[in-house]
Order: sequence, then structure tokens, then C-alpha cells
Amino acid sequence: MKDSNLTKKLQKIDKDTFQEDLINWFHNQKRILPWREDQDPYKVWVSEIMLQQTKVDTVIPYFNHFIEKFPSVEALANADEQEVLKAWEGLGYYSRARNLQQAVREVSTTYNGIIPNDPKRLSELKGVGPYTTGAILSIAYDIPQPAVDGNVMRVLSRILMIDDDIAKARTRRIFEEAVRDLISDKDPSGFNQGLMELGALVCTPKSPSCLLCPVQTHCQAFHNGVEQAYPVKSKAKKQKKLSYYTCVLQDEKGRFFIEQRPNEGLLANMWQFPMVLKQDVDEEHLATWVEQKYHLTIHKQETLPKIKHVFSHVIWELDVRFFRVENAKGSINDQLFLSLDALTTYPFPVPFQKLMDYLKKHSR
Ligand code: ADE
Repeated sequence: MKDSNLTKKLQKIDKDTFQEDLINWFHNQKRILPWREDQDPYKVWVSEIMLQQTKVDTVIPYFNHFIEKFPSVEALANADEQEVLKAWEGLGYYSRARNLQQAVREVSTTYNGIIPNDPKRLSELKGVGPYTTGAILSIAYDIPQPAVDGNVMRVLSRILMIDDDIAKARTRRIFEEAVRDLISDKDPSGFNQGLMELGALVCTPKSPSCLLCPVQTHCQAFHNGVEQAYPVKSKAKKQKKLSYYTCVLQDEKGRFFIEQRPNEGLLANMWQFPMVLKQDVDEEHLATWVEQKYHLTIHKQETLPKIKHVFSHVIWELDVRFFRVENAKGSINDQLFLSLDALTTYPFPVPFQKLMDYLKKHSR
């Protein structure tokens, strides 16, 4: 049921001219972006997943490379997961890539490779939430469904002066209601992309360019001079700091040891240099911990520069130790000792890429 407050705010909007102003502006001013070249639902899907939590400029080269490597549902469904993670390397939020591939495999087997065009089937696919469902349906299939992300909430919170806290998960539904009421049946794709584009180019978080806004005459916050007060958003919790020792183990042949992360949780199935929480092992026991865990003998130890990396919910502080080791008995898998060049074919989280860059520059 629609909130009566929202209904009143929606009634103030002249829907036909609002749609026309927004859609005309979008078609005239939109950025030329690789996923806008056609309405291929697969490309729309890949782009929307990449664009979650990541800026357009960062996404463009990844999108082009990804589509070149995996040009279709079938190509991605048949690819090796490690190759997919490698193509995603540096974009972050790697579960997006793993879920996308799982979902595409489902499309291949259950739907004959055709991406469903109904909300229920689409939203049952792994990693396809309400936003992605609406984005694919509207942009690729021209079906009038809401696609509400943070940008769209910011834009509509100003136009309609919606005071609900956009940091709360349940608030999205209020905005979905608003879009259901406002969306154009003639051009749902232009309408939703228009809202997204307005959020990116005009109705920006800090100082919106209201004087250039194509829907300024419809904006209740502008009318009241309070656009800066929207959206209402409570502060996110501070990220938790995790301090690790990270161990660079180099063998007699100059190769480095890597291991694969577990197949669940943060950075699942990606590769890393061995690491342990500092709270679990003290500095003076670290060498023994390495020797016992990896069945190696350590000959030499050095301290390398610290590495810090900020993820969405955690911050890693890596205290890096270099160990020259002897794996004479071959007691850990010899194949996991690799030259720096060979390492680059494995998918690594960004902090380890930083570490590998350091090792390349200071070869030892
Ligand atoms: N942000 C989210 N989806 C987008 C799209 N399709 N184009 C540009 N920016 C976006």
C-alpha cells in the first residue's frame, strides 16, 4: 500500500512533462558508453553488475575486456572460474563475478541461453537483486520496472522531498513505489537511464547543478531551496581494521609461494601470499608458525614495507615479512612456488598486486 504522504508528493508532479523533460534530456545529453551501443540484455547485465559500487570510468576498460573475452551467455557459462576472476581482478567485490557466472550458467541450462524477461525468473538468478532485475528489464527489454540504486534515490529524494533514511534497506521500496508511479510506458529504458544519468552528471551528492537541471521545474527540494538537505542518509559504520602478517616465501630457485583462499567469504577462491592475523601469532613466533604450517626451513628473514588496503567493510593492514626458505623435501606442493611472471596469470586481490609490484621493482 502506498504511503499517503508519498501519494501527496507524487500528485504535485506533472507526470507527462516530467517524463518528457527527463527522457529528451537523456537522449540528447547521454554519455556514449560501451554498454549503450545496443540493447543486448547480456551486456546490460554485465555492465550493471560491474557498475554496482564502481565508478563508470573504472568500469569501461573492464567491461570492454570482459565482453571481448566472454562475448555471450554461452562463452561466460563455459569459462573457467579462475579466468573470470582474473578478468575481474582489481574491480573488487569478487562475489559479483562468481555469482554472475553461476547465474549465467543457470540461464544457459534452464532458459536455453535466453535471459528471462520477467521479474520473478530474473530475480531468482544468483546475484540478481531488485535493482539489477529492474535495470535489465527496463534497459534491455523496455519493460516499465523500477531500478533504484543510490543515485536514483538521491535524485528522487530531492524531486519529491522524501525524508526517509536511504541508508536503511527498507527505504528502497518507497522509491520503487515512486518510480512505478512516475515511469514512462513509452520509454522505460530512457526514463530509468535518465534518472541514473541525472544522478551521475547533474544531481550529484555534494553540489548539484540545479541551474542546468532538465527537471528543475519539477523539483520540490529546489523549489524550497533545500536540495542540499537531501538525501537523508545516516552514517555507515566504521570499517573494521584487521592486522595481518603477510609472508613472502621465496625458495632456492627464486620462486614465490602462493595459496588459494577458501571457496567462501571475502575474496573467495582468489590467491594470496600466506597470511595470519597478528592477534593469532606474535612476531617472535612467526617464523616457527611458517615452518610448521608449510613444512619448510627458513634461512633468512627481512621486513618489507607495510601495505594498507581499504575494502568496503574492512581495512587490511599487512605487515609484510620476507623469508628465504628451503623446501628441500618438497613437503609443500612444489607447483605452488612460481616465478613472478607466472604469478600474474592467477587472480589476486589488489593488496597482493601492490606487493607483487614491489617485488618486481626490488627483485631479489
Ligand atoms: N550506473 C548504474 N547503471 C548505469 C548505467 N547503465 N549507465 C551509467 N551509469 C550507471
